[in-house]
Amino acid sequence: MKSFSSRIGVLLAAAGSAVGLGSIWKFPYTVGENGGGAFIILYIICSIIFGLPLVMNEFMIGKLSGKSAYGAYRALSGNNRWQWLSWTNMLSSLFLLSFYFVVTGWCIYYMVEAALNTFDGMEAPQLTAFFNTFEGNAPVMLVYAIISIVLTASVLWFDVNKGIERLSKILMPILFIMLIVMAVHMVFMDGGTTGLRFLFEPDFSKITPKVILEAMGLSFFTLSLGIGALITYGGYMPEDQNVAKTSVQMMVLVIIVSLLAGMIVLPAVFAYGFSPTEGPELTFVTLPEVFQHMFSPSLTSTAFFALMCVAAITSTISVMEVMVAFVCEATADTKRPLNRHQSVIVVTLILVVANTLCILSMTGHADWLTIMGQNMFDNANDLVTNFLIPLGALAVAVFTGWFVPKARYQGSRMASCIYLILLRWVIPSPSSLYSSIP
Ligand code: PHE
Repeated sequence: MKSFSSRIGVLLAAAGSAVGLGSIWKFPYTVGENGGGAFIILYIICSIIFGLPLVMNEFMIGKLSGKSAYGAYRALSGNNRWQWLSWTNMLSSLFLLSFYFVVTGWCIYYMVEAALNTFDGMEAPQLTAFFNTFEGNAPVMLVYAIISIVLTASVLWFDVNKGIERLSKILMPILFIMLIVMAVHMVFMDGGTTGLRFLFEPDFSKITPKVILEAMGLSFFTLSLGIGALITYGGYMPEDQNVAKTSVQMMVLVIIVSLLAGMIVLPAVFAYGFSPTEGPELTFVTLPEVFQHMFSPSLTSTAFFALMCVAAITSTISVMEVMVAFVCEATADTKRPLNRHQSVIVVTLILVVANTLCILSMTGHADWLTIMGQNMFDNANDLVTNFLIPLGALAVAVFTGWFVPKARYQGSRMASCIYLILLRWVIPSPSSLYSSIP
């Protein structure tokens, strides 16, 4: 069946897509780099003013058209002029997954190593060396990236209500419980309050235009906007699903999870005298070191990396679903239509190639992939977060605001009016500014 079977299933699948490495990996270090509380306030404001209408918008496009990112724009506008946007969504998904699966692989690897007590007694220099050795080891990284691709593909192999929906219903509650237990554990340890103060006491002098745009980019990333993921899930919504309610619930969940992730990572970092501005390595170098000082280091670190794996996989599922649904729909009217299973195989192979290239480029085995002095991993990460997601979200706002016949808007006059003003005028202005930032 090509549809979710329950309202709670849709919400949990959408929350699963949104809550991922963005909330648990990117959020804490971006907050750390941008001064704490004030950044969080900006992040929440951006999510409410810009993120929420865009989430509703993407769900609506999917639900009204009943199609995935491939067919939705054509179905709603009645012409082919927006077809480039579906291809952009497909390309953005491919770029996103070419670095996202690599990091998901790191999480699985770290979970396994933590369970094997590998980090026992290691201090910062050894952990840095451990991470650098791993980051230079192409075969091991590739094996773990492929494990995460195959795990995701095996969920997509089933129909959406049996695979994605069922798994989200099991994993998301587990994820929430784990997050809450860990956050309480971290906040109540000695010295944890410094981190809390950093998180919740705003210092507005840190806010610059660049920080505002960064908060918006992170908000779009964590809300899964701009690449067609929510359009695709919207296409699977049951008739009686209330889009506005689901969008608000999803946004609130994402904000809560991001704050919980901040409460797990930052108090621990402060309590042991580390700097919160360590960047992406915060999670893979600083945290394992922090865990060494805690009650049952191996259990705590295994639990933390397990949590990251769950969050990451429920997100990769939604992005890979964009690609699988795209391939199914795009080939449907051709001489060789591909069914779901064949599409999963094709997309899996494409992703294995993309991740192999990304890893070879990271480990210095493919210098021809270095562009503007950066390897493919960094370029894909920057391109997706700073350019493709904001631009994709902007384009979808312009599409609905200006090119979908007004008769299609549902709900009260007042609500549709506010919605239209946001989509036409408010959202396009800063999003376009955002993507022009170097
Ligand atoms: N929201 C996911 C995260 O925070 C990433 C994502 C972006 C997923 C865009 C789907 C679409 O990790």
